[in-house]
Formats: sequence, C-alpha cells, structure tokens
Amino acid sequence: MSDRNPPQTEPPMSKAASLASARKGGEALSTTAARRQKNGVCGLPKYNAPLAWVAALGAAWVFVLVALGAFTTSIGAGMIFPDWPLSNGSINPEGWLQNIAMFAEHSHRLSGMVMGLITITLAVWLWRSEERAWLRRAGWAALAIVIIQGIIGGKRVLLDSLSVPGFEMTYGQMLRIPHGILAQVYVCLLIAIAAGLSRGWVERAAGRLPPSAGLRRTGALCVGLLLVQLTVAASMRHNFAGLAIPTFPYSTAANDLLPASWDYRIALNFAHRAIAALLGVALLWFAAKLWRERGATLVMRCGASLMIALLVFQIMLGAHVIWQLREPHVTTGHVVCGALLLATTFWLTCLAYRDVIETASNARSESRKQAHTS
Ligand code: HEM
Repeated sequence: MSDRNPPQTEPPMSKAASLASARKGGEALSTTAARRQKNGVCGLPKYNAPLAWVAALGAAWVFVLVALGAFTTSIGAGMIFPDWPLSNGSINPEGWLQNIAMFAEHSHRLSGMVMGLITITLAVWLWRSEERAWLRRAGWAALAIVIIQGIIGGKRVLLDSLSVPGFEMTYGQMLRIPHGILAQVYVCLLIAIAAGLSRGWVERAAGRLPPSAGLRRTGALCVGLLLVQLTVAASMRHNFAGLAIPTFPYSTAANDLLPASWDYRIALNFAHRAIAALLGVALLWFAAKLWRERGATLVMRCGASLMIALLVFQIMLGAHVIWQLREPHVTTGHVVCGALLLATTFWLTCLAYRDVIETASNARSESRKQAHTS
C-alpha cells in the first residue's frame, strides 16, 4: 500500500508486522507522515487499484440490490416464498425464471448473497492491507450492516403473520421500514469506502485550495435532510400511504396546498412533499456553492450538475407515481433514483470533507503512536 521507505531513525518494519502492530492498538505501522507518500494536505498511502475496483463494484452492485428490493415491494411480492433462507426449500426454486413475482424476490435474495460476498472481501482486504483506520472501520461497519440486513429481511418473511397489538401492520411488515432505511445507510458507507480508495482521493495534488467550511456544512445539511426524507419515505411507503393524497402538485382536487383532512398516512405523505420542496432549495444551494467555490475540483462541479439532474428526475418520477397510481416500474425508478441522489450528494460531501477526514485520521494515528512508544 504505502511507500515503505522508513525514516533513518527507525528500524525497517515488514508490512505484516506493521499492520499487526497497528491493530494491537498502537497504529504504529508506517503512519508517520514521513513514511507516507505525500498527497495533498495529508500523507496518504499509494493508490491500490484492485482494492479500489472491488469497492467500486460494491458501490455499483448495491443499486442492483436496491432496484430488485424496490420492485419486489412495488409488485407486492415480498411474501411469494414463505420460507427463508431458502426459497420454497431450494436455492433454485421451480418456476422462478418464469414467474415475475418469484423472479423479483428470488433475484433480490441472490443479489443480496452476492452483496454479502463482495462486502466480506472488502472488509477483510481493508483489514489486511489498509493503513487508514477510518477505512478499516468502515469496512467492518458495512459487513455488520449487510449481515443485519440479511437477518431483518429473513425475519420480515418468517414473522409476517405475527400481529402487533394496536397496530395494523404485522411484526414482519414493520421490519420493512428499518430494512429500507438501513439500506440507505449502507449505500452511504459503500460510497465513502469507494471514495476513500479512489485514485482522485489518494492522489489529490498538494497545494490545492481546500473546500471551504461553508461548503462542507451545506453538504452535511443536505445529506442529513436526505436521510430524513428517506426515513419518512420508507415509513410512508410501508404504511401504504403513497396515495394518501391522490393529487399532485396540489393536495386536493380543488387545488388547495393543504389536505382537507388529516390522519397519520396523510401527514406522512404531506411531510414527504414538504421535505422534497425543502430539499429542492437545499440541493440547489449546495450545487451553486460547488459551481462557484474555488476549492471545488472539476469532478465536484460535474457531480453538482449530476445531483441537480437527479433531483429534477426524482421529483418528476414522484409526480408520476401519483398520476399513474403507483405503477410498479415508475415507483421502482423513484426509489432507485432516491438512492442515487443520496449517493451523489453524500459522495460530494465526502470529497468536500476529504482533507478534514484524512488530517484527523493522521493526527489520531500519530498521537496513538506517541502514546504507544512513550
Ligand atoms: C428529493 C425528493 C424526493 C426523494 C429523495 C424521494 C425519495 C423516495 C424514496 C426513497 C421512496 C421509497 C422509500 C422506501 O420504500 O424505502 C419514496 C416513495 C415515494 N415518493 Fe418520494 N422522494 C422525493 C420526492 C417526491 C415527490 C415530489 C413526490 C410527489 C408526490 C414523491 C412521491 C412518493 C410516493 C407517492 C412514494 C411512495 C410510493 C409507494 O407507495 O410505493 N416523492 N420517495
């Protein structure tokens, strides 16, 4: 990974020994800035192309998984198989390639398995070869989430008929909400790992003007707002409240902005629309900052344009979900585009925080090393 030319004052240390030493709590390995290749503000390890590609594969594959999950829910096929982890007692259930409901649910399960394998590879590879502690931790966190997601998904099937006193939804149906929310957190983690390992991140030129604190704060605010929106959206969708307000852009047939009556489904649906309007303003503000900021790279400026294109597309898809009475392909497109919008905004925010993350990580490694040696 890193430049292994040790400073004159220290004896040479093998890669395995230095990593083992780091994991024992000392972070002693080659974390001194002098040992690392100098890139930008912080000294970073060298670009590791194969590992970066596995991370990029994970960050892309997660959208296949999200699309299949969203389509399964949109056509109401979540319970097509009553068992788990096998489907009708098999890994290759009869007729699954002919029946669309079986195909959706079973391919979601299979793609989840592939996602698990990619995440295990990534976590172990990061643990064995990555010097930066934040990336090693992100790898373990991604692995923990993929395991939890598998278990929640399985319990959602197995507990589908377990009713909860006082609630319309069963216990299994309720589990769809944390499953949907955790999926978005998982997307963010994979994006952070892929960004941290990318060539642009580790090889950013020294002496470049860093993004301003204002830009970073705006990005963080937008990511926070998007996570709130996705949480409200998941609660709305799984409470069957997508058409609780059946008109758009107005809330009544008489063109009123506010709904004529209220219950929790209408409130969720209205909150989703109100937050979408807020997000429209917040994301435009973030994009304008990215376009104007001298510390933003060309990639960040292009990313800002992509973010706005996704925002416009997302709102158009949302309108069509209502106008076409939750047509499954449109609804699936809306869920996937929502995840892409979060991923793009989060990625841009990570890029804006790159120097802060790496400087803090370096400083922590240094102080741990000093504590270890003194
Ligand atoms: C930037 C803005 C928006 C984002 C990020 C967003 C995101 C999402 C997501 C992720 C879901 C699915 C949640 C899940 O299943 O876990 C969803 C559902 C939904 N969204 Fe949006 N949305 C936005 C704007 C809108 C707008 C403007 C409308 C128009 C009314 C809309 C209408 C809907 C509807 C009706 C559903 C539920 C679909 C169903 O019942 O299956 N969304 N949204």
